[in-house]
Amino acid sequence: MTDGSADRGPPEGIRTSPGPGSSRGEGWWEALVRACDMLPDGVVVTDAGGRIVHVNAGLEAMSGYGLFDLVGEPVEILVPEAARALHRRQRHRYAARPRMRPMAAGQDLELRRRDGSSLPVDVSLAPLETGEGLLVLAAVRDASHRRRVLDRLRASEARYRSLVEHMPAVTYLVRPDGAVAFISGRVSEVLGYPPEQFEAEPGFWARVLHPEDRGRVCAAWRRAVETRGRFSLEYRCLSRDGRAVWVLDSSVPVTLGGEPFWHGVLVDVTARVRAEEELRRSYELLQRVDAARRGLTTELVAAAEAERIRMAADLHDGPIQRLSATVLRMELATRSTADPALAARLAALTEEARDVIRSLRRVVYEAHPPTLDRHGLGPAIREHLREAAACHGFQVELEDRLEREPSPEARTIAFRLFQEALTNVMKHAGARRVEVRIASREGGVWGMVRDDGVGFHPASAESPMEGPTPGSRAGIGLMRRRAELLGGWLQVRSAPGSGTTVEWWLPVGETSPVGT
Ligand SMILES: Nc1ncnc2c1ncn2[C@@H]1O[C@H](COP(=O)(O)OP(=O)(O)OP(=O)(O)O)[C@@H](O)[C@H]1O
Ligand SMILES: [Mg+2]
Repeated sequence: MTDGSADRGPPEGIRTSPGPGSSRGEGWWEALVRACDMLPDGVVVTDAGGRIVHVNAGLEAMSGYGLFDLVGEPVEILVPEAARALHRRQRHRYAARPRMRPMAAGQDLELRRRDGSSLPVDVSLAPLETGEGLLVLAAVRDASHRRRVLDRLRASEARYRSLVEHMPAVTYLVRPDGAVAFISGRVSEVLGYPPEQFEAEPGFWARVLHPEDRGRVCAAWRRAVETRGRFSLEYRCLSRDGRAVWVLDSSVPVTLGGEPFWHGVLVDVTARVRAEEELRRSYELLQRVDAARRGLTTELVAAAEAERIRMAADLHDGPIQRLSATVLRMELATRSTADPALAARLAALTEEARDVIRSLRRVVYEAHPPTLDRHGLGPAIREHLREAAACHGFQVELEDRLEREPSPEARTIAFRLFQEALTNVMKHAGARRVEVRIASREGGVWGMVRDDGVGFHPASAESPMEGPTPGSRAGIGLMRRRAELLGGWLQVRSAPGSGTTVEWWLPVGETSPVGT
């Protein structure tokens, strides 16, 4: 085909010498035709009037036309019908100012094939002045692959954009000096300012920072820039309408086109921060109420204890003293009587009175063991345990690991819990061995009484009643309530046949090291 066109020679009227068969060898036309045929792109050569004077093999292949179908035709034969009029106008404009340039830069051009289908193409134009008129060379390149790639790129950019604009966070790209290169539209919902304002005004970001947080935000940012590290901070911004907006801002350093940036996400966490503040306030209120309640409990315990001590003192100073004096007088009377029967009766009565005194002394002791105040919780428990063991004949083991002496109120309650647990052992367990432990634990005092006695079902044992009723079994329930009133706990573990363990923990108020 190329041969054919070269043979045919250039079109009438534009051919300049040397032409085919010139004495100087190959003419410019033949050279042009040969050059066009060597190009991989399609080439269309038109004259000043837009008539096709030559096409190369590449264009034949692209268009489906043969050379002879096209030569002599207006070049618009290769343009989709809808674009022909426009093409014609642009061709005239080009003829007026011909120069080398891409055709219709930025537009998606198409070549109309012989079968009517279209092929995306890129076209570059070059004028070729000849002595007999202007020729225009159009290099046509199949752009379908490039367009496909471009379309995919556009689609992926659209997807990315949609993602960025729809995610419930602001994304941004800033330079190390804080200048915003990009910020997503959502920023206008969070702070009320349009994204363009951040991008256009250098330092705008710093201006929206809450004055109280500006210092630490700038310091953290400087640190991130210096170390080229991650930036992550929660701080307040001031929105356009003056609201304080809490944001969680975190970004990582990235390099784009050889330049350093920080790519980040900013989330509005105001609701969460407010909820946390609310929670903290409620918690503080709760703690104050709890402290007040504990204070009241402490006072109640102290008052009850004072009452017990007063009662013990009254018993000691009144009935016990008087009974002791009576016993002395009865002993005197026993010794001074000559009647042996009377002496025997008096001696028996005296012994009974002594027994009453012992019982009363026991009540006095139990009401408030003097050791508790004098020597502390450990020694008081040791003393009480020793006496109980002597009476009931079980073996005892005491482990005292108290590091700090509990406050007087906590100490009294701890002693009462121990006392009640041990009384239950004596009343119900039939134990051979009793193990008692006390220790300082988790800022409080912990205690345990374990026996190897008959055991029971704890669930069925505890009285559901609020307070002790004569005859009711209220001991364990009261112990638990006492511990809980002070902010502690009490647990009973038992099963028939496998002994019983009572364990408790009480927070302690002001304490002093054991032994002081
Ligand atoms: N260490 C123990 N070994 C065996 N059974 C026990 C022990 N401790 C308690 N129990 C059982 O649990 C029941 C409830 O004990 P709780 O101390 O509440 O009442 P109580 O001792 O019967 O009466 P109260 O303590 O009011 O004088 C007891 O009646 C007993 O059956
Ligand atoms: Mg009991």
